[in-house]
Amino acid sequence: MRELKLVGFAGSLREKSYNRALLRTMVELAPLGVTLDVLTIGDLPHYDGDLDQDGERPANVDAFKAAIAASDGVVLVTPEYNHSLPGVFKNAIDWASRPGYRAPFTDKPVAFATASAGPIGGMRAQMHLENVLLGLKARPFPHPGCAVTFAPSKFDEGVLTDEDTRDFVAGYLAEFADWLRERRG
Ligand SMILES: Cc1cc2nc3c(=O)[nH]c(=O)nc-3n(C[C@H](O)[C@H](O)[C@H](O)COP(=O)(O)O)c2cc1C
Repeated sequence: MRELKLVGFAGSLREKSYNRALLRTMVELAPLGVTLDVLTIGDLPHYDGDLDQDGERPANVDAFKAAIAASDGVVLVTPEYNHSLPGVFKNAIDWASRPGYRAPFTDKPVAFATASAGPIGGMRAQMHLENVLLGLKARPFPHPGCAVTFAPSKFDEGVLTDEDTRDFVAGYLAEFADWLRERRG
């Protein structure tokens, strides 16, 4: 079975973020033969085209882009902010979207999940995210969606404890890994 190297980042900087906790739980639930490395985005500067030039680009942006480029796939986990994507999350995607159509995200398989305190679990943000990914020529994982609703009742001390949700998330990652292996052969 081919080893898969995934990277992921979360769209919340909050220390007690449910989405960061979900991503940490995904690291633990990744199927056999799959590693998931968590990238940080809080120290990326605001996207600035003047900085996005060879010789000007900050070293942490280069490292962030290189990690995505070298991966077999990306796992994105984000809250929904005002029915869309958090600015800090979109900022990270924007850095990794250049140069257009030759970027780390170009043709990159991407799985994505959301967690929210509300009953819709951030699904509106997922719809926006899918649209953004298609604009990048990334390859969003075709799946009905991985969302954690009523998040405060499903996490304890930064760990996803709800057993049904853990099973669902583990299944989602396993399906993503199968899809990646089918794509690559
Ligand atoms: C600026 C802002 C906008 C928000 N908008 C939404 C929203 O549109 N839909 C939703 O379900 N929750 C919304 N929330 C609530 C978040 O889902 C909740 O704060 C969640 O815990 C944030 O994710 P985190 O725990 O990973 O930081 C919003 C929160 C903030 C701070």
